[in-house]
Amino acid sequence: MSNHHPQGRSPTLNATHLVSRRQVLSALIGAAGALAYSAALGGTNRDLCLLTPPQTEGPYYPVQDQPEKDHDLTRVKGRPDRATGQILYILGQVLDEHCRPVEGALVEIWQAAASGRYNHPDDRDSRAPLDPNFQYWGFDTTDKEGRYSFKTVLPGPYQAGLFWTRPSHIHFKVHRRGYHELTTQMYFAGDPYLEKDRIFRAIPTAERQRVIVQPEPPGREVEPGSRVCRFDLILPPSLHP
Ligand SMILES: [Fe+2]
Repeated sequence: MSNHHPQGRSPTLNATHLVSRRQVLSALIGAAGALAYSAALGGTNRDLCLLTPPQTEGPYYPVQDQPEKDHDLTRVKGRPDRATGQILYILGQVLDEHCRPVEGALVEIWQAAASGRYNHPDDRDSRAPLDPNFQYWGFDTTDKEGRYSFKTVLPGPYQAGLFWTRPSHIHFKVHRRGYHELTTQMYFAGDPYLEKDRIFRAIPTAERQRVIVQPEPPGREVEPGSRVCRFDLILPPSLHP
């Protein structure tokens, strides 16, 4: 799991928020996740929150608007099938530099499909097909406790140059208008392309673990083959304190 909380402390993330907003997420705090999510936010560690390292936006930030601005990327309205690939639930909290929840932040993600292809006019890799059932771009707004969630698929790696394959990653952009902003990328533990990726390696060594997640098996109520990732986003100090 990610490790932005020194001494193993991690904010509580109970299922209430997720149940009320998307039923399928109700059981994410299953056996595997329970331990990781059990520690309460607060106490003396509040001032130890470590910032999430920023990462480049990359060339494929969406340029075409889409009617669906929700946080389930595995379904496209009007299509009966779901996206191809390993289902992932991503959930976490947006926190400030003092580990205080940031309410009302807009969290956007965009990513390649399982094939490694982006839905962007500049991604012309015809060997990797577009997935018509995948929603490539998603949105969520944090609640009172800074919580957000997404349902998506594991993005495929893709060729970024002749001798450069980008590891699987999901782009994140977080805004709280006028106050906080962060653009970064989330990676997956054990990815064979990670160590040679020049964008990932631009992060200082000591901070790299903060953008790597370890997908875990879900609780019983969620589809058994899915995986759950926890990714907290710690924003830099407010522009307008
Ligand atoms: Fe990318």
